[in-house]
Amino acid sequence: SVTRKPLIAGNWKMNLDHLQAVAFVQKLHWTLKDAGHEHDTVEVAVFPPFTDIRTVQTLIDADKIPFALGGQDLSTKDSGAYTGEISGAFLKKLDAGYVIIGHSERREYHHESDADVAAKVQAALRHDLVPVICVGETLEQREESGPTAVSVEQLKVALEGVPADADVVVAYEPVWAIGTGQVASPEQAQEVCSALRAVVAASLGDEAAARTRILYGGSVKSGNIASFMREPDVDGALVGGASLIAEEFAAIVRYQK
Ligand code: G3P
Repeated sequence: SVTRKPLIAGNWKMNLDHLQAVAFVQKLHWTLKDAGHEHDTVEVAVFPPFTDIRTVQTLIDADKIPFALGGQDLSTKDSGAYTGEISGAFLKKLDAGYVIIGHSERREYHHESDADVAAKVQAALRHDLVPVICVGETLEQREESGPTAVSVEQLKVALEGVPADADVVVAYEPVWAIGTGQVASPEQAQEVCSALRAVVAASLGDEAAARTRILYGGSVKSGNIASFMREPDVDGALVGGASLIAEEFAAIVRYQK
């Protein structure tokens, strides 16, 4: 859309150790620079594993690389006896601006419920992090209850208690399209993203709905990104596999070219 700045986000998942992360971020930066990419047109964000965040922060800070940084998850708690957990306060200290919440891989492998997701959204907001709230249906759920019902319900719960002026990002990631190469059609993405914008309007108001960015995720590549970005309610992409290849991710960022 004209009023919302597009966001192209790379979710590295459990890939790239901290040394590989340095090489990757430098390569991505130079690829975009060589192509003459203008950073004020599209926001770029990377979501490395926790153990890379300090390294990536140091690099983007030292070289003035205009990428936003985020965590892939956070604890519902702020500190204390929670072995293995990472607090939003820690992410904020490392200049993270964003945090992914409720990715389908967390929901599936770590049994995160809609209530857990809602608690994590609150934790993110407490630390001034923008939650990237992931929602999406499995193929079975799509066949059972249609394309929008599951995502709409997930987002409704996630937004409970969120103030109207909060900054949030929503990512529609149909589970059947993640890492499968079976990409949703732009029309399918638009249908759900528009239903999600209606949820933002009902929960946070029209002003929030107009400014909140809603991303599509699931087998996004340089060859299909432009078709998604043409849809009125798709404001960017959350990219997995293709975010790990610098040339490919740069081409996704430069979808307008
Ligand atoms: O969070 C991004 C994601 O789940 C999509 O993964 O590999 O299908 O782009 P991929």
